[in-house]
Amino acid sequence: MSQDDDKRRAALAAADEVKDGMLVGLGTGSTAVFLIDELGRRFAGGLRFRAVATSLSSEAQAKALGIEVLPFADVAAIDLAIDGTDEIDPQFRAIKGAGGAMLREKCVAASATRMIVIADGSKQVAQLGTMPVPCETLPFALAFVRAAVERLGARVVLRTKSDEPYRTDQGNFVLDCHFGPIAAPAELAAQLSSIPGMIGHGLFIDEVDAFYISDAGQLIVKERLLSD
Ligand code: A5P
Repeated sequence: MSQDDDKRRAALAAADEVKDGMLVGLGTGSTAVFLIDELGRRFAGGLRFRAVATSLSSEAQAKALGIEVLPFADVAAIDLAIDGTDEIDPQFRAIKGAGGAMLREKCVAASATRMIVIADGSKQVAQLGTMPVPCETLPFALAFVRAAVERLGARVVLRTKSDEPYRTDQGNFVLDCHFGPIAAPAELAAQLSSIPGMIGHGLFIDEVDAFYISDAGQLIVKERLLSD
């Protein structure tokens, strides 16, 4: 079974949580593509739900499948968010944003009554930090934010695309911040959030309620308990 098969399997299983009448947050990335495709099929088959999207690409995909996508600017709360991840640890903390959508993803996740992560087994880690933490940064404050994150101990790389600084859907820059193993994710998240000019970062501490992970064909579903 390939990594894509695992992504698809996790996405299809999570799609079962979408029920008639729900307002659903659609994630971003290759796993979310499988989810949105499946939800498009279910919509065509009569399932009635509306959506908000965490990126322009997911919005375009959903609309092309006939799914009604509301502007998140008009939406205060949603029923369910389903999204991929880059890393997830046993305490349901995650690093997201390899695709650059972490700011919209976090807003949508925070607005959701329930937030589910879908992933293949490679995303499960004992400790966060193999991946860099993507940090969306106001271009005006680029040097200041970079220096502030470096003082927290990271090696900081400005994300580029075609030799130009990569721009998010909001037109901002992304600093990929390599911390190595992150001993205290919540403390680091708070420190990053306190930097003026840092608009958002990819450390998700409290947002994830459950995950659907398919690892070499085996589906693992875990719910966050109050003790987690
Ligand atoms: C988008 O910015 C990310 O947060 C994605 O959700 C994450 O990178 C997972 O992507 P894949 O499903 O492509 O691995």
